[in-house]
Amino acid sequence: MGKLSRQVAIVTGASAGIGEAAAYSLAREGATVVLAARRLERLDRIKQEIESAGGNAVAVACDVTLAEDRERLVSDAMSVNGRIDALINNAGYGQRGPIEIVPVESIRQNFETNLFSLIALTQLVIPVMRRQESGRIINISSVAGRIARPLSSVYDATKHALEAISDGMRGELALFGIKVIVIEPGFIITEFLEVANEISRPIIEGDNPYAPLFAGFNEGYKRMRRMAGQPDDIARLILKAMADPRPRPRYAAPRHARIFLAAKKWMPDRLFEYIVNRQTGISADRLRAQNLK
Ligand SMILES: NC(=O)c1ccc[n+]([C@@H]2O[C@H](COP(=O)([O-])OP(=O)(O)OC[C@H]3O[C@@H](n4cnc5c(N)ncnc54)[C@H](OP(=O)(O)O)[C@@H]3O)[C@@H](O)[C@H]2O)c1
Repeated sequence: MGKLSRQVAIVTGASAGIGEAAAYSLAREGATVVLAARRLERLDRIKQEIESAGGNAVAVACDVTLAEDRERLVSDAMSVNGRIDALINNAGYGQRGPIEIVPVESIRQNFETNLFSLIALTQLVIPVMRRQESGRIINISSVAGRIARPLSSVYDATKHALEAISDGMRGELALFGIKVIVIEPGFIITEFLEVANEISRPIIEGDNPYAPLFAGFNEGYKRMRRMAGQPDDIARLILKAMADPRPRPRYAAPRHARIFLAAKKWMPDRLFEYIVNRQTGISADRLRAQNLK
C-alpha cells in the first residue's frame, strides 16, 4: 500500500509538464488522482496509463477560468469517495512582455488563470476540507513568486500574489487541520516556454523598441536550459508536501532555484538585480557588449 492510499487528490493542469508528472507520482503512491485540464484527450491517455499501472484516476475536462467547470470538477472529485484530501493548484501560463506594451486585458487574463481561478477553486474545496478537518492545498508558485524579472513581470506578479494569498491562508486554515504549501520550481523543461512564447508572440514580434531585450532574453534562456530540471523533480517535492506530517510552508527545486532564492534573501537588491539580469540575458551592459543595442 502506498503512502497516499485512499486519498483523493485534484491536480489542475494535469495534461502536461509538472501536473502530468505529479499525477503519475501521486497515483503510484496510491492516491486516486482527479486530472483536470482543457485537453481531455490528453487526460484520457494519462488516466489509461495510470490505470494500466494499477492506479486510479478520473479525467475531468476543466477550464479553471470557468465557474461551471470548477463546480463540476469538485463534484466529480467528491463522487469518488465523498472527500478531497489534496488540491494541487498547478494550472498556469506565463505572459511575457514589457509593461509599457502588454495589453491590460492580457495582464488580466494571466491573473484570471494563475490567481483568481485558483482562488475560486480553492474556495469550493475549503468547506469540504474544513468538514473533514484535514486536507492539503498545494499551490504551484515559482521562483518567480519571489523574484521578478524584466519582460516577465506580469507572470511574476501573478506568482508573487499567489505567495501572499498562500501565506495568509496558511494561518487561516491551520485551525481546521488544513495545510497550505507552496512549491517554487525553477526552470523546468515542459511546454511552459512554448506556450509563453506563443501567447506573447504578438508582443515579441511586434514593432517595438524592446527587440534587443527580447534577443538577450532568449539567449539567457538558452544558457538557463543547461541548469533546467525535469517535471519529476517537482513531482517529488509535491509528494513530500503531501506526505510530510509537518510540511514546510514552501519547497523549492532544482538546485539553481534554491541558490537564486538564497541569493535574493541575502544579497543587496542592486547586486541581486544585476546578477539576475545578467543571467537572464537582459543586462544593458551585456547587450551593449554584444552590440545588440
Ligand atoms: N516550467 C517551468 O519552468 C515552471 C517554473 C516555475 C513554475 N512553473 C509553474 O508550474 C505550473 C505548471 O507549468 P508547466 O511548466 O508544467 O507548464 P505546461 O507544460 O505548459 O503545463 C501547463 C498546464 O496548465 C494547464 N492549463 C493552462 N491553462 C489552463 C486553464 N485555463 N484551465 C485548465 N488548465 C489549464 C495546461 O492544460 P490545458 O492546456 O490542457 O488546459 C497544462 O496542463 C504552472 O503554474 C507554472 O507557472 C513552471
